[in-house]
Amino acid sequence: MLIGFMGAGKSSVGRALAEQLGWTFEDLDERIERREEKKVAEIFRDAGEAEFRRAELGALKEAVEGLRTASERVIALGGGAFVHESNASLIEAANIPTVFLDAGVEELWRRCQRQSEEQGWERPLLGSPKGFRELYEKRRPHYLRASFTQDTSGRTVEEVAAELIQALGLDRRRGGENQ
Ligand code: S3P
Repeated sequence: MLIGFMGAGKSSVGRALAEQLGWTFEDLDERIERREEKKVAEIFRDAGEAEFRRAELGALKEAVEGLRTASERVIALGGGAFVHESNASLIEAANIPTVFLDAGVEELWRRCQRQSEEQGWERPLLGSPKGFRELYEKRRPHYLRASFTQDTSGRTVEEVAAELIQALGLDRRRGGENQ
């Protein structure tokens, strides 16, 4: 499972990683949207963050259950998911490896700005640069509980995915066909 702050590249790296491995990719926010039949931004707006977190835990339980029968899957979590103890302990109890994708907070902010300008991404918790930094600093110790931390600064999505495959020894699991 890929975790980290907004703008860390969890979904884009997750897609590239799954593609390079021949695995399935899943975005937990998309599972939430399917379950609730609403966009994440609408859930925040209509029902508030607490309700979003409830939906997130429900979706995470389903995703964790799904891994028992289909383990060759990369799952990207939303930025707040691993910060909540019930979610983190559910993942750890199931022994699911977690990767924290990190970058400097200025770079994370720039990536989020670009995504909202170019792709119209709506992030309910984006806020101001100051609030963004404070939230990042508050959450970072939680992310560091991950099994592995990967720096994404100045790297392309494909580079990060390839580095992760090497670092986690997933190339060996693939039978070395790309070596
Ligand atoms: C959130 C991050 C979002 C999404 C929701 C809450 C957060 O996902 O789950 O808006 O608490 O940081 P991304 O990290 O993919 O933007």
